[in-house]
Amino acid sequence: MKKCTVIGGGAMGRQIALNTAIHGYEVVVCESFPAARESLELWKEEYLAGRIAKGRMTQEQVDAVKARFSVTDDLSAACQDCDIVIEAIIEDKQAKSDLLAQVSRLTRPDTIIATNSSFMVSSTFAGVVAHPERLANLHYFMPALVMKLVEVVKGEHTCQETVDKLMAFARETGKTPALVKKEEDGFIVNNILKVIKEEAYRLVNEGVCSLEDLDTAVELGLGHPMGPFKLDDMSGIDVRYSVLKRRLEETGTKSHGYDMISNLYQQGRLGKKIKHGFYDYE
Ligand SMILES: NC(=O)c1ccc[n+]([C@@H]2O[C@H](COP(=O)([O-])OP(=O)(O)OC[C@H]3O[C@@H](n4cnc5c(N)ncnc54)[C@H](O)[C@@H]3O)[C@@H](O)[C@H]2O)c1
Repeated sequence: MKKCTVIGGGAMGRQIALNTAIHGYEVVVCESFPAARESLELWKEEYLAGRIAKGRMTQEQVDAVKARFSVTDDLSAACQDCDIVIEAIIEDKQAKSDLLAQVSRLTRPDTIIATNSSFMVSSTFAGVVAHPERLANLHYFMPALVMKLVEVVKGEHTCQETVDKLMAFARETGKTPALVKKEEDGFIVNNILKVIKEEAYRLVNEGVCSLEDLDTAVELGLGHPMGPFKLDDMSGIDVRYSVLKRRLEETGTKSHGYDMISNLYQQGRLGKKIKHGFYDYE
């Protein structure tokens, strides 16, 4: 596999795309919003200039990455003749389903189609993808340029060749894959994290401690690089809200954090990306 298309140039998509280009793939990012395309280009320039300034990349390496990396709003062109498509649009079942149906029509039948959904297993979309044996989850972690883990999730519809190719793709792009052999919403890490976060929300809701002290306790007591509230800010309050809302709608289970996340979401405090979430980052 040599050509990769990433759909969605948001917080995750742009980092997945640049990481893949840095590791030698030709990468096209398909992003439909002009403002997002502009911010992606600025971010890419800043990031790569920073790599040179820190001595991590040479000018020649950066030039080669730029030559392999392009951004478009043309889904049809982006899907033409690529080996792997990674979908990284908003965590919305209908939006992902509509998009993957189009991707299925626009790609070669052997193009691998991977979704970076945080929680939804790929069988959710198997009905809209022709040749669903090429469909699986490829789940990255924030920030995707730095975090080593990716989860490869095999659905019943996914063939072994697709799994093997995704495991190899992860390794070739500097990641360590963990194979999830059986579909389970949330896969491995987010299921473990769910338990930690629920306890964090409960302790703060019940006035046991402040959210700042809870983060400090988790960082210094458990050695986590950041506490659960800082992690929510980094992942995006909008992403978190959609997960908790979906859990409430589909299972009737209301998270201990639902009200506080919903309040932040309604106030537009979407996390670190806009400098305001649980914390302020001015
Ligand atoms: N943020 C995280 O920590 C994290 C971690 C792992 C996985 N994910 C998953 O990655 C995906 C993207 O998350 P993100 O944090 O990059 O979100 P984001 O909000 O930063 O980016 C979302 C992208 O979706 C595009 N988009 C919005 N509405 C659309 C629509 N109707 N059709 C097509 N494209 C649309 C936007 O232009 C943008 O490129 C989600 O599925 C999320 O659950 C997020």
